[in-house]
Amino acid sequence: MRKLKIPVTRIEGHGLITLSLDGEGRVAQARFHVTEARGFERFCQGRTVWEMPAITARVCGICPVSHLLCSAKAGDAILAVRVPRAADKLRRLMNLGQFVQSHALSFFHLSSPDLLLGWDSDPARRNVFGLMEEDPGLALDGIRLRAYGQQVIEELGGRRIHPAWAVPGGVRAPLQEAARDRLAAGLPEAMRIIQDAISLYEGHLDDWAEEISAFGDFDSLFMALVAPDGTWEHYSGHIRFVDSDRNVVADGLDPARYPDYIGEQVEGWSYLKFPYHRETGYPEGLYRVGPLARLNCCDRMGTPLADEALRRFRALADGKAVTSSFHYHYARLIEILAALERINGYLSDPDLLSDRVRAEAGINELEGVGVHEAPRGTLFHHYRVDEHGVISWVNLIVSTGHNNLAMNRTVHQIAQHYLSGREVTEGLLNRLEGGIRAYDPCLSCSVHAVGRLPLRVELYDAAGRLISERTRA
Ligand code: MG
Ligand code: NI
Repeated sequence: MRKLKIPVTRIEGHGLITLSLDGEGRVAQARFHVTEARGFERFCQGRTVWEMPAITARVCGICPVSHLLCSAKAGDAILAVRVPRAADKLRRLMNLGQFVQSHALSFFHLSSPDLLLGWDSDPARRNVFGLMEEDPGLALDGIRLRAYGQQVIEELGGRRIHPAWAVPGGVRAPLQEAARDRLAAGLPEAMRIIQDAISLYEGHLDDWAEEISAFGDFDSLFMALVAPDGTWEHYSGHIRFVDSDRNVVADGLDPARYPDYIGEQVEGWSYLKFPYHRETGYPEGLYRVGPLARLNCCDRMGTPLADEALRRFRALADGKAVTSSFHYHYARLIEILAALERINGYLSDPDLLSDRVRAEAGINELEGVGVHEAPRGTLFHHYRVDEHGVISWVNLIVSTGHNNLAMNRTVHQIAQHYLSGREVTEGLLNRLEGGIRAYDPCLSCSVHAVGRLPLRVELYDAAGRLISERTRA
């Protein structure tokens, strides 16, 4: 089998795709490798549960807010406390700010150059600077929208995100009235920007028909948290699985009992595990998480404008699940709208300014699971502690892990569709990268490696011998 390895560049962290051809030159196997691991779960052993939000916020330079909140929730479970109402709302508000900034970065900065300038356009211009020349209004909108999400986070956590604003039992500091008023002032522009972006996306659906059909369009399960009444949820609730027809496969699952329904398979060629739906088995139990999954799993968004958008989204698949991973982009935009509508609701909530924001308690449970929806998908933090709260064991499942099987399936589909001959063209490489980027993977997070690592290209001959290698910093 002939093997071509190519690097994945415009996603955070480090990755490698290998394509293996059969005797007829067809794609027999496609693998997305995650090849760096730093043993973060082991590194946490010996620290206390109170330190964990600050420590895990440093798991990843890309999504510290997600780990901060999820770790605090695992701590709540170990303290066995009910978080004060104001603190619960403040944490939710921060998570919504993280949705806005993270989704805006993904769509406007990382993905829209391909979508709007074209997959085969000049690679030197196919980036946010090229977009700035082509459509400066859109590029600036993206920057402003992301800045608004960032502002929500900073008004709560401090200018340089306090490494432990969220703590087991609540949060350290309430929101100041002046900060709330600044957030209210910025909201109308953010709302205008996201509604324009959704119209833009919907106006291009015909132009993107080929990519929609080839970028990971397959039947699978979807997993997400939903509220007790089935409404879209980002912070608590229970786990639901639906299939491609949007039949509910499992519902009301306790997130703390995730090992009952999620298995984690290890493969020798990737450091990232392969979670699967246990009852369906491996690898058939492939499920997707994140924006696409949350929109497929929920019954409604729960806010007026986002619900209108959800109706248009559902119409793409006649009410069944939207199965193309290309539409992660669409789902991401609708979630920004939902997040802004909810932020608006919180800003007029008097609870938000309460200074009763932290429940104090000792160690009341020796094991705890925190789960919430990070922008990229469902995040689990699972800790075991001794009677002093010292960590003895940690398991994290991050969204990029949940989507690992789906990303592999996606690169296979893209390679089958676009590879011609025996050459990895720039256009193919860009589409493979774009197919993975639709999931907005955080490889920093998944492998617990911060920063960029050297990229490697390896070329194997038909007998599996390495005949060419290229590394760039
Ligand atoms: Mg793990
Ligand atoms: Ni991350």
